[in-house]
Amino acid sequence: GPERPRVSVIGTGYLGATHAACMAELGFEVLGLDIDPAKIEALTRGELPFHEPGLPELLLKHVQSGRLRFTTSYEEVGAWADVHFIGVGTPQKPGETAADLRFVDAAVTSLAEHITQDALIVGKSTVPVGTAARLRDLLAETRATAGLDGTVELAWNPEFLREGYAVKDTLTPDRLVVGVESAHAEALLRQVYAKSLTEGTPWIATDFATAELVKVAANAFLATKISFINAFSEITETVGGDIGTLADAIGHDPRIGRRFLNAGAGFGGGCLPKDIRALQARVSELGLDRTMRFLAEMDDINLRRRDRVVDLAVQVLSHHRDGIARSAGDTASPVPSPATVEVLNGTKVALLGVTFKPHSDDVRDSPALDVANRLFTAGADVAVYDPQGNANAARRFPRLGYVDSLEKALVGADLIILLTEWDEFRQMDPEYVGRLVDQKLLIDGRNVLAPRPWQDAGFTHAALGHRFSPAQSATEGS
Ligand code: UDX
Repeated sequence: GPERPRVSVIGTGYLGATHAACMAELGFEVLGLDIDPAKIEALTRGELPFHEPGLPELLLKHVQSGRLRFTTSYEEVGAWADVHFIGVGTPQKPGETAADLRFVDAAVTSLAEHITQDALIVGKSTVPVGTAARLRDLLAETRATAGLDGTVELAWNPEFLREGYAVKDTLTPDRLVVGVESAHAEALLRQVYAKSLTEGTPWIATDFATAELVKVAANAFLATKISFINAFSEITETVGGDIGTLADAIGHDPRIGRRFLNAGAGFGGGCLPKDIRALQARVSELGLDRTMRFLAEMDDINLRRRDRVVDLAVQVLSHHRDGIARSAGDTASPVPSPATVEVLNGTKVALLGVTFKPHSDDVRDSPALDVANRLFTAGADVAVYDPQGNANAARRFPRLGYVDSLEKALVGADLIILLTEWDEFRQMDPEYVGRLVDQKLLIDGRNVLAPRPWQDAGFTHAALGHRFSPAQSATEGS
C-alpha cells in the first residue's frame, strides 16, 4: 500500500468524530465526511457538537495543524483517501427492533460511486451479521455498473469504545478485530494500527461474520452481566441482603469478574439496548428464534428497574406521610397508577442525573430521563440537575423542570433521587444537603451513597437492590 495511507471517516457522530481525531493524533492526514452541513461547519471551526472528555482538545489541535479536515463531499473523499472508515449510525428501525441499515448502505454506495483509485472501505458501525458480505457484493455491483476501474475492497473493523472514555479506548483499545477477505486488506489495516500493534494490542484477523458477531456478542454479554445482578436485586429487595457485597463476593472469582456488576437503574445509551434488540431481530430472521430468547428477558429485567424506582418513590413518600409503605401497583404502564398519582402529585423531587451514565451528555434510552418523565407524568414537580445532560434532556422532554446547579435542585425538595452516578453527587455532604431539603428522603438509584452517613444525618435512605425497611432508616438513623 501507500507509504502513509490517507484516511477518510464517513459519519461524524460519537464514533466517527472520535475516530477521525484519533487517526489524526496517530499521524494520519484525515478527512471527515458528514451529510449534515451544520455538523461539518462546527467541526471545521474545531467545535465538537457533543460532550466527550479529551476530544475537544484533540479536535482543535488537529484542525489547527491542518491534519484534520471536514467535508460534505463524497467526490472529495473518493478522490483523496486510501482508507475509508464508515462510522455512521445504525439506529433501530422506526417502530421495529431490527437495525436500520440505510445510512451504512448509502455510505457504501456513495463511496463506491466516487472512489477514483485503489482503496479500502472499512466498516466500523455495529451491524447485523451478514451485512458486510452483502455490502461487499453491493460495492462490486455498484462499481461494475458505473464502469469504474481500480480495486476497492471491503473490511469490517468493529469499534468497542465507551462514551466518556472514547479517546482512550480508540487510542489504546483492548483488542483490534478485523474481518478481512484478503492479505492486502489485512496488511493495510496493520499499517493503520501499527502503533497499537507495537504496544502489544491483541490483533484478531478473521472473517466478516465473526468480526460482526464479536461486537454484538460483547454488548450482549455486558448487558447480560448488568441484568444478571439486577435480577438478583429483585431478590434482595424482597428478602433482604446486600447486593453490593454479593457483587463483590462473586466478582472475586476471576471467571466472573467484578466489572459491570453494579446494580442500579440499569443500562441505557445509544448501544446496549438497541444492539440486544437488533440481535434478537437478526437471529429470528435466521430462523433461530429460541437462541437469543434470554436477551428479551435481559431487556425486561432492565426496564423493570425503572418501574422499581417509581415504586420505591411511592413507598418512601407514603411511609413518610402516614407510616405505611404503600406499593405503587402497576408501574410498568405508561399511564401512572392511581396510587402513584395520589402520592407523587405535587411532590418536589430533586432528580440528580439524566444522562445514561456519567462523563457523557447522552440521554439516549436513559433510565434516569425515563424515570424523570414518569414522575412528572404522575404529577411530581421534578427539578432535574445533570452536570452535562440538561440541554439534551430538555430537547427530549421540554416540560420537566431543569436547574443549573445541584443546590437549586435540592432546595425545598421532598425527595432526592440519584439516577446517574456523577462524582458531584457521590461527594454530597449529607449534613449540608439536609439543611437544603424540606424532607430528608433519599433514593440512591445507583448504589453509590453509603447509607450510614445519610442515616446519621437523619435521612431515610432507600436504594435499588436493597429492601426498603423504613424502621431502620428513619427511626434508628438519627
Ligand atoms: C457500551 C460498551 O461498553 C462499548 O464497548 C460499546 O462499544 C458501546 O456500548 P457505552 O454505551 O458507552 O458503551 O456505555 P457503558 O459504559 O457500557 O454503559 C452502558 C450502560 O450500562 C450505562 O447506562 C451504565 O450506567 C450501565 N451500567 C454499566 C450499569 O448499570 N451497571 C454496570 O455495572 C455497568
